Amino acid sequence: MLMSDEFVARSLEEVRFWSRIMKEHSLFLKLGFRCEDTQLINEANQFFAVFEAIENRANAYPFESDPAVIRRFNEEVHNAVSYIWAFKRKVLGLILTCQLPGGNNFPLLVDHVSREANYFRNRLMELNLGRLEPLPDAIIDENVFFLRIMADHAKFISHLLDPSERKLVEQANNFSHEFDQLLFQAKDLDSMRPQSQTVPLLDQFLDQNRVSVKSLRDFKQTARDLIEACRIKSIIHPLLADHVFREAEHFLFIIDMFDNSLSGKSRE
Ligand SMILES: [Fe+2]
Ligand SMILES: [Fe+2]
Repeated sequence: MLMSDEFVARSLEEVRFWSRIMKEHSLFLKLGFRCEDTQLINEANQFFAVFEAIENRANAYPFESDPAVIRRFNEEVHNAVSYIWAFKRKVLGLILTCQLPGGNNFPLLVDHVSREANYFRNRLMELNLGRLEPLPDAIIDENVFFLRIMADHAKFISHLLDPSERKLVEQANNFSHEFDQLLFQAKDLDSMRPQSQTVPLLDQFLDQNRVSVKSLRDFKQTARDLIEACRIKSIIHPLLADHVFREAEHFLFIIDMFDNSLSGKSRE
């Protein structure tokens, strides 16, 4: 169970990070629709406004807020996230049944952003129920989730760079392969539960993932700077480059948090 001040802080941090992410997903989806898809464009614009308002409110609430107020806020956000999740799945269905020919949203990207919405929704539910997973389970589950997210990012970057940027495409493909491998390793550790959940194995797992996430984070930062300065050829929106960079930073933050809790445990 979380203490009430910890509940407020964790909730606000989570909502501040993910509501901005949801807002940006609305923009990316909109940019990928065809100009005649005015209904979908309107829906995306509405979600942008909804999550912008949520983001502003989350930034305005102080950490000393009444937990009951934040609990209701979390419920409201949960509701909005359920709607954007359904929207993303609807769009995925339209693409996969070839009803948006010529659109520019990859199916994997739409699935990816829907998985992020689902993750956010689960976090809100866990926080409100006060039921956080035990540390060894959280370490494996969060890494399985985020390693796949990182592997997807590498694939999106590779496919949205101009094919003539051969060096960068190759680097992105190498990251894609590296993270696919890490994801398989994480799934192996997952299937060996609970015997695999020893402190030395989990500690090594976190250390290994951290090294790769750091180098992917640096690659994304470089790509972002190059795109912003218009030094490379791509169809990557500068905000998308920054968005995937921030998600890598967020994963690193989670890895460090787990590592700290784990080393606290091993000293007990
Ligand atoms: Fe995202
Ligand atoms: Fe992402």
